[in-house]
This record gives sequence, C-alpha cells and structure tokens, in this order.
Amino acid sequence: MIFDTHAHYSDQRFDGDRHSLLMSMEENGIGNIVETGAGIKSTKDAVNLSEEYSFIYAAVGIHPYETENIKEEDMEWLKSLALREKVVAIGEIGLDYHYAVPSRQVQKKWFIRQLEIAKETELPVIIHSRDAAEDTLDIIKTFYPANTGETYGVVHCFSYSPEIAKIYINMGFYLGIGGVLTFKNGKKLAEVVSQIPLERLVLETDAPYLTPEPKRNERNSSLNLKYVVEKTAEIKGITQQEVIDITEKNARKLYRL
Ligand code: NI
Repeated sequence: MIFDTHAHYSDQRFDGDRHSLLMSMEENGIGNIVETGAGIKSTKDAVNLSEEYSFIYAAVGIHPYETENIKEEDMEWLKSLALREKVVAIGEIGLDYHYAVPSRQVQKKWFIRQLEIAKETELPVIIHSRDAAEDTLDIIKTFYPANTGETYGVVHCFSYSPEIAKIYINMGFYLGIGGVLTFKNGKKLAEVVSQIPLERLVLETDAPYLTPEPKRNERNSSLNLKYVVEKTAEIKGITQQEVIDITEKNARKLYRL
C-alpha cells in the first residue's frame, strides 16, 4: 500500500472532515502516514493523532519558520515526546532562506540543536531545506559521515539538483517526492527521479499543501498520491505497483518500522 511519509492532517483545513477522510484511507490504498510536526502546537497535535489512529505515526520538530521564539526548555520537551512509542522521527527541521526571517543565525542554531536531539534519541530526521542548499549540506555533513551504509533520514520535498541529490543519497538519506513532480515547472525534480534509484525515493504529500496535477488548486491529501505514483512509474518505465511496493519498503526502512 502507499506510504505517505509526510503530511499535516492537524492543519485547520481538515477540521471539517478529518476523521471521515482518515477513515477512508485504507479502502483507497493508503497504508501508513507520518504526521509531521512543524512547531510546538503541530508537534503536540501530531503525537495525539498518532495515538488516536493505529496507521498514523508522528514526527516531532520545529520548522525553520517557527524557530524565532524557541527556547532550550522547548528542546527538552521535544526530547521527551521523541521517546513516545509512535514517534518515528525528528522533523521537520532545517533551513529556509526564502524569507529574511527568522534570521539565518537563529535557524541554524535550532537546526543544529534538533540534529543533536535526533542523535541522542537515535531517531532519523526529516529535513526541510529551501534556498539553503549549501548551509544545509555543510551542517548535515558535520553530523553524518558518508558511505557508512546507515540511513539517517529524508530530505523532504526535495528541490535541488541531481548532483546534490547524489551527495545526499551517498550520505544515507532518502529523497521525499510529492506533487511538485506533476507540475509543469517540475522538470528539475523529474530529472532527479530519473537519475536516482527508486530504492532511495519515498512518497509524500505535505498535505494540505503541494497538491499534484490535475487537482492542483484543491486541498491536498494522501488520496492524491496516486498521481505522483503514476508520474514516477512513467519516468522509471516500471509499473505503478512496483513504485508503490518499493517506496513503501523504503519508508519502513527510513522510519525503522
Ligand atoms: Ni511539511
């Protein structure tokens, strides 16, 4: 079944139909979902959701945009949540230089601190990195040695070149592939998918965001992953079932399930 490695069902855009939507996943071929925290509240919500639904797991973390007012005591809290049974990763964490705030210095500080927590709790990481390729890699390299055969996490919504993709997979990372693959301007990601072995790719929605074509203007959900499966199968020249099976296996390895 399809494994959605990154979603935000705690988002208020699901307030009207969250339960019925989640209860329809299985009959539509969606097996597991990782509900990803992106701040204090969404992390709390992610853990609650994972404890309510057997097929949902949680990731706990502070997104770079949410780092401005974070304090060390929040990190202790995060670490305590990371020990819960259904928590499978630290994330989403990283760097995003698309806007000027929070400052790069603040973002880096809490990215590094959360990578330390991932090490201490021995959990994989979900990396968010936008317009910050070099700084993200520089920091990650100091935490994770390359070519050890270990898997350390996933670079979510991968947006960089095939060259950078290769550096990450050699370091033991998976690449998260979602709706952008179906966009007209998604050619760079299609190039990454064609060059990187399927064994290194996982599927993700980032729901409610990044809805694939042909539903692009609607709210996203895991039900739309079929369009990403279709496009991946087309690029790789394999069946959709192979894409589903192999990416599911990858996701289980990534989150150690
Ligand atoms: Ni996300």
